Amino acid sequence: MSGWDGFLADYHARHPAVTEDLLRPMRGPGGAQPYEWLCQGVDVDAPDARVWDLACGSAPVADVVGTARYAGVDVSTAELAVARARRPGVRVSHGDALTVDPPGRPSAVTVAMALMLLPLDDALSRAAALLGPGAPLQAIVPTREHGAGTGYGELLDLLGQQGRGYRQPLEPAALAAACARHGLVLRDDEVAVFRRPVPVADVDLVVRSFYVRHPDGPGPEAARAWLAERAERPGYELDYPLRRVRMVRAGG
Ligand SMILES: C[S@@+](CC[C@H](N)C(=O)[O-])C[C@H]1O[C@@H](n2cnc3c(N)ncnc32)[C@H](O)[C@@H]1O
Repeated sequence: MSGWDGFLADYHARHPAVTEDLLRPMRGPGGAQPYEWLCQGVDVDAPDARVWDLACGSAPVADVVGTARYAGVDVSTAELAVARARRPGVRVSHGDALTVDPPGRPSAVTVAMALMLLPLDDALSRAAALLGPGAPLQAIVPTREHGAGTGYGELLDLLGQQGRGYRQPLEPAALAAACARHGLVLRDDEVAVFRRPVPVADVDLVVRSFYVRHPDGPGPEAARAWLAERAERPGYELDYPLRRVRMVRAGG
């Protein structure tokens, strides 16, 4: 495996649950943590609620929707091992998010911090095929376009990642057009700034959580030094923008 696939396989094998550990202490609109924000609008109390979580990692979404209503899929065995260890009984499957079948017809599909890694047309077409009319597909993604003036943007600069996108750019107009191609209606596409306390012990975790594919040079050390200096300040919080896109299967 080479390119993005090789990088992702190696990265998540070495750092399982890094995304959950980065995001869970964050608080954003209304005090919601990012996985709660992701699931807002998904009716998890309906009797037939069944959430299928693509690229589920360590399965933090299960805590929000309830283990009984949750199933996830991920290609990383290390991520799934953490999911099972942290959430005994959680239903997670190993394999490609675009081909593994969910245990039943999902009432909603979620994608946390991974839509920018999957081939967009394939991911939307797969979700649309699984969902009934009116059922939601909701995703949160990191954004490298909204960091200006935030600590997150400063870290992007120091790491040399400013202007470097992910595998899928997810440019808003292109995303809306892709939704239309696959029978999905884009309901909203928004960015919110979350705040994360950074104890000194978490400096490495935060810096390592950025997907830096070519970490040669002074970037990571400079980013660690910048964040470590701030982490010493009482009450310091890193401001960190996240993007949420909420779609529904047309015809509801
Ligand atoms: C940034 S992590 C997010 C994990 C989890 N959703 C979370 O928020 O903690 C991205 C995840 O996508 C998974 N992934 C990437 N491509 C995949 C694919 N084609 N099928 C299944 N999982 C995939 C990786 O293994 C990794 O666990």
